Amino acid sequence: MRTVDLIIKKRDGLELTTEEIQFFVQGFTDETIADYQASAWAMAVLLNGMSDREVTDLTLAMANSGEVLDLSKVVDIALDKHSTGGVGDKTTLVVEPIVSACGLRVGKMSGRGLGFSGGTLDKMESIPGYRTNLTKAEFLAQLKDLGLVLTGQTGKLAPADGKMYALRDVTGTVDSLALIASSIMSKKIAAGAQRMVLDVKVGVGAFMKTLPEAKKLASIMVSIGRLAKRKVVCLLSDMNQPLGYAVGNALEVKEAIETLHGGGPQDFREHCLDVASHLLVLGKAAGTLAAARKKAEATLQDGSALERFRKLVAAQGGDVSYVDDPGKLPVAPIIKEVTAPKSGYIKWIDAQIVGETSVEMGAGRATKEDTIDPAVGIVVLHKVGDRVKKGEPLFVLHANSQKSLKAAETRVLAAHKWSAKKVKRLRHSYGVVDK
Ligand code: URA
Repeated sequence: MRTVDLIIKKRDGLELTTEEIQFFVQGFTDETIADYQASAWAMAVLLNGMSDREVTDLTLAMANSGEVLDLSKVVDIALDKHSTGGVGDKTTLVVEPIVSACGLRVGKMSGRGLGFSGGTLDKMESIPGYRTNLTKAEFLAQLKDLGLVLTGQTGKLAPADGKMYALRDVTGTVDSLALIASSIMSKKIAAGAQRMVLDVKVGVGAFMKTLPEAKKLASIMVSIGRLAKRKVVCLLSDMNQPLGYAVGNALEVKEAIETLHGGGPQDFREHCLDVASHLLVLGKAAGTLAAARKKAEATLQDGSALERFRKLVAAQGGDVSYVDDPGKLPVAPIIKEVTAPKSGYIKWIDAQIVGETSVEMGAGRATKEDTIDPAVGIVVLHKVGDRVKKGEPLFVLHANSQKSLKAAETRVLAAHKWSAKKVKRLRHSYGVVDK
């Protein structure tokens, strides 16, 4: 088999066989297929799509490209959550501690930023010392002893996904339904998850721009789950405007800590409670979503979720004093509050523009080698539907140079659209797909 023939076949819109997909994944993993060929192949998949059978084959080949964890000796039900990626999406930082405070064990392997969406690992690394590279033995030991882990995917788990993810980030091949579904499900299967909540983001700041696309992605992932004997619940949630207010690594960690203190932005808190409730039901810590939500809420009120977050940070080598005093987290040298250029109702805050701007300011990567500046980012101060008067604060920029500040100011101002008439607030959720 020749790699170039597989690229041509996909370029011409033809279906690859199971053997061809396995050959490609194997070759990409052991580096007999070069990055440039894999990039061309990924672009062909993005442009021409894949059949459900091809996506399932790709998922299983990527899941089996390395070790597959068996968590059955450590947990009764191996739970996991994953987001398809959004702007200001710091949900894991709050949901994992809630679920843990409700008595379930939860170990998660998260990713880095992808395209304009932020990554949980990049956020957690704003806390000095926090290790995101636990070994398999460390992961299992911490899951057993503390019942809570948040680390990166070890190189040995689904290595094909790890490599493909990094390549897609810098080759314009992120937003392919087939590549997203196989990326997420291969990781989850390899990490041993038996039951999972997948947070499928919908809107301009998500990889799935429309509800039908998001539903299609959700149903592919549910059906991959069925084939692989995993229970998958997909939540369809809004990503037209940033989730919460903060976008940027340390800024998001601060907002997550505020939420763990029982405060935080209302939309973000709601979303976290929603995701946590589904996990609690899947993990049998609650019989109904209503009962689960009560339990989850209580952990934010009584400080037990915050305490679990502290324990998590300490267990992974992070300096807990940054959790106790988030003011110590990295701060950008230039902070500028930008005011509203006019009075009116906000009818749109384009999450993709906000996400891209934050990446351009240094919160994400343009090439695989780029390093992240944890301090930079954007704090929007409003939500769609808010009435704002001319001259009132609209957003705050945290920048590391005047040049980046200026460019960001223009872009984020343009991301805000106005209406003279009252505007409806955006929905937070568009339903659940689990069948
Ligand atoms: N999250 C993933 O893990 N992979 C993708 O491709 C997109 C979001």
